[in-house]
Parts: sequence; structure tokens; C-alpha cells
Amino acid sequence: MAETKATNIVWHDQTVSKESRAQLKGQKPTILWFTGLSGSGKSTIANALELKLQALGAHTYLLDGDNVRHGLNKNLGFSPEDRVENIRRIGEVAKLFVDAGVIVLTAFISPYRQDRDMVRKIVEAGEFIEVYVDTPIEVCEERDPKGLYKKARAGEIPNFTGISAPYEAPNKPEAVLKTATKSIEESVDQLVTYLKQNNYIS
Ligand code: ADX
Repeated sequence: MAETKATNIVWHDQTVSKESRAQLKGQKPTILWFTGLSGSGKSTIANALELKLQALGAHTYLLDGDNVRHGLNKNLGFSPEDRVENIRRIGEVAKLFVDAGVIVLTAFISPYRQDRDMVRKIVEAGEFIEVYVDTPIEVCEERDPKGLYKKARAGEIPNFTGISAPYEAPNKPEAVLKTATKSIEESVDQLVTYLKQNNYIS
């Protein structure tokens, strides 16, 4: 838990509501929270899904692991404490996007179950869709798009998820994507169907 340092602050109710912002966009705002190992396909599928959603007229935003670490979270590394803070900040930012009426996609390893559950708790029911990108580590290591598994095996990257740091798979994710046996399009279609069936988009 992040320490509370701010004092003498008062919450202001805003005149324009989350509901009216969402209504204007004709969608139900939510967070599609992708979680999985490095190289599992989180960013690839999130990017393809965002493109598809935009084509369907949805208002979206994608928060992506490596990119957010270039800015907002550039002072955080990969120690357990820094990963907790990374996810806490992303969760709060994602919540702001939901408040703005947007369907937000996040693509972070987010290895700790407790941190993902924490984000689920700060938003309302139905505003957190946990998408487990369930790709076996052997497949991720075989893909190794950034050459990081090779480096981690050589002992050049400490605390590497799946090798020298833990990954806790979700217990009850809303969606599971098996990227080793399904195409990107099939995974995207699976999620679009979920969003339509649950009235996030029409
Ligand atoms: S998280 O664990 O804090 O959620 P995040 O998704 O932001 O991780 O960043 C993961 C990305 O950082 C990986 O895809 C990889 O490119 C890079 N990376 C660098 N060092 C590590 C490490 N020790 N463990 C995992 N990923 C790392």
C-alpha cells in the first residue's frame, strides 16, 4: 500500500458525471486488463483489439508496459516493491480513463494476483475485465522477441519474470487467451464477442 502523504485535501464532486460522459460515447467504459508473461502476446493482442474496437466506433486508450515505463513510471524498476507501485499507478490512471468514459486496455505483466485484485477493487463491478494471456513459458522463450529470455538465462537480467521472479496466474479471469494454439484474430474476436455479449459496445 502506498503511504498517504497528502493532508488537508477535500474530495470535490464533479458536475459532469461518468455516466453522462459514457452516454455521449455510446459505450460502457471498462478496463481490459491483460496479464501474462513477457512475450506472451499481451501488447500484440491489445493493439489488434484496439484497432478493431476503433473500427467499430468505440473510444479506447491503450496503456502499454514498456511505453509507460518510458514516462510516468520511469523511476520504477523490477523489484517486487517497484512492480507493486507500477501496477498501483497504472490502476489509478486506468480508473481515470474509465471515469472519462473510455474503454481502456492495459498490457502489463502484472505478476502479482494481489495487485490485480487491488485494481479490481478500486473500480465498480464490471469495470475490470481480467484477460489472462495464457502462453506457456516455453513458447514465450522460443519467441523471445526482445532477446530478454536469453539474457535472463545468461544471468544478465535479475528478477526476470518466469525465470528468477514469480508470475501468479489469475484464479478467475473473465477471459483466457491461448495464444500458442489460436491466431491473433481469433483472440481478438473472442474479446469483441465478450464485449458485445456483456453490452460494453453495440
Ligand atoms: S510489471 O511486472 O511491472 O507488470 P511491465 O509489464 O511494466 O512489468 O514491464 C515488463 C517489460 O519490461 C517486459 O516486457 C520486458 O520488455 C521489460 N523487462 C525488463 N526487465 C524485466 C524483468 N526483470 N522482468 C520482466 N520484464 C522486464
